[in-house]
Amino acid sequence: MRCGGSHISSRATKQTKFFQQTAAVILAAGAGTRMKSELPKVLHPVCGVPMLGHVLSTVEALGLRRKIVVAGHLIAQVHSYVDKRAEVVTQWPPRGTGHALLQTRKQFRSYCGSVLVLCGDAPLIRSSSLESLIRFRQAKAASCAILTFQLEHPTGYGRIVRDARGRVTSIVEELNATAVEKAIREVNSGVYCFDAQALFKALDRVKPDPIKKEIYLTDAIEILAREGRVEAIKTDRPEETLGVNTRKDLATVTRIKKQEILDQLMADGVTIVDAATTFIGVGVKIGQDTVIHPNTVIDGPAVIGRKCSIGPFARIRAGVKLGNEVTVGNFVEVVRSTVGDRTLVKHLTYLGDAEVGADVNVGAGTITANFDGKNKHRTVIGNKVKVGSGTIFVAPVTVGQSAVTGAGAVITRGTRVKPGQTFVGVPAKAAVKNLKKRVM
Ligand code: UD1
Ligand code: MG
Repeated sequence: MRCGGSHISSRATKQTKFFQQTAAVILAAGAGTRMKSELPKVLHPVCGVPMLGHVLSTVEALGLRRKIVVAGHLIAQVHSYVDKRAEVVTQWPPRGTGHALLQTRKQFRSYCGSVLVLCGDAPLIRSSSLESLIRFRQAKAASCAILTFQLEHPTGYGRIVRDARGRVTSIVEELNATAVEKAIREVNSGVYCFDAQALFKALDRVKPDPIKKEIYLTDAIEILAREGRVEAIKTDRPEETLGVNTRKDLATVTRIKKQEILDQLMADGVTIVDAATTFIGVGVKIGQDTVIHPNTVIDGPAVIGRKCSIGPFARIRAGVKLGNEVTVGNFVEVVRSTVGDRTLVKHLTYLGDAEVGADVNVGAGTITANFDGKNKHRTVIGNKVKVGSGTIFVAPVTVGQSAVTGAGAVITRGTRVKPGQTFVGVPAKAAVKNLKKRVM
């Protein structure tokens, strides 16, 4: 057979060349019955990003030439999430992992590179492990390299069977395993790197499993092993291969991912006072010497500057950019807003769709009323403004530099407070000079 489709531009670097000769197939067609959900399993979020999004990002980091997602159950939702990040191939009805791969045959018709196979419901896999697996297969000139790991209690996983000389001979699924095979602790992670042509040739020879009547990808391993070309490499971080089958698994994977995010932030110079009660999502950037106090949730994506103080009990949602030395204190929620350097938002405040300048003091209980029931509107607050406690900004509202609002002021829709002006009252209006005298 003549292989094509792996033409590489002469300008490409060696590294790029290497990864461009590899494609990835992400299996995501399973029904995910045990999740008991109307959302496809692979779209359940882990730290703010769907599981499939994590796997796609990991694969994207390698710069692979081709990415294919095999979907079946609730495919329209999977398709619309994947959008242009990968090709989507249909497997319907799902008849096993080998059957899933067979649906991609057309995509690989004249392709002679490697195919990385991953599961869309195992979001913790690292790019570095995938890279090692791809390189390992190449170095061994194997037709398949399997990522395996060692488990004390291997129940549920396919067992890696080796011969007396230690060579992989097959993978046996739990349901088909003998007592001796069940005792094997080295298990299949479900992540493999294949030679594309060898894979499809072997899959053609796989017969449906007698018990589940499915075409198992793992049965292709035995066929390839007979030619003596299967190798396995153990990961030293088994948790990266964890698959999600239930909501409990989802919580386990989320806990691990969350800790990874916090560990990275701490390594980068951020203080996390209490990791157990702090939740920070994917795509949150935080500058050095910022302190995150307990019970804080930062969903992200968000950018937080240096030397900020966040929480306790703060919630920062998507689209937030905080400058340096900003305080976002107790019971403060911020969403789709920017806040300038040294601004203090210390207590009981909601900032939504706001642009707050530098050196602003936002008094306790300030609210931006950004939503009129139909549309969201912006509140723009200039530098050095002093916002009195309990001020309500009925957006859209603009407050000029160094202006002041009195405690409890209601700044009505469309108001433009001029620089230096003081606004008081409900609804607030421009303060009249000598107001005190007139009242008296
Ligand atoms: C599979 C492996 C097992 C391995 C385990 C690792 C097989 C037969 N067994 O078992 O050796 O230890 O993963 O977690 O491969 N999928 C499809 N179409 C299908 C069936 C499944 O796309 O028809 C997808 C699922 O969405 C999932 C992945 O393939 O992302 C794995 O399927 P799953 O049913 O979870 O396989 P396991 O029984 O866990
Ligand atoms: Mg599974």
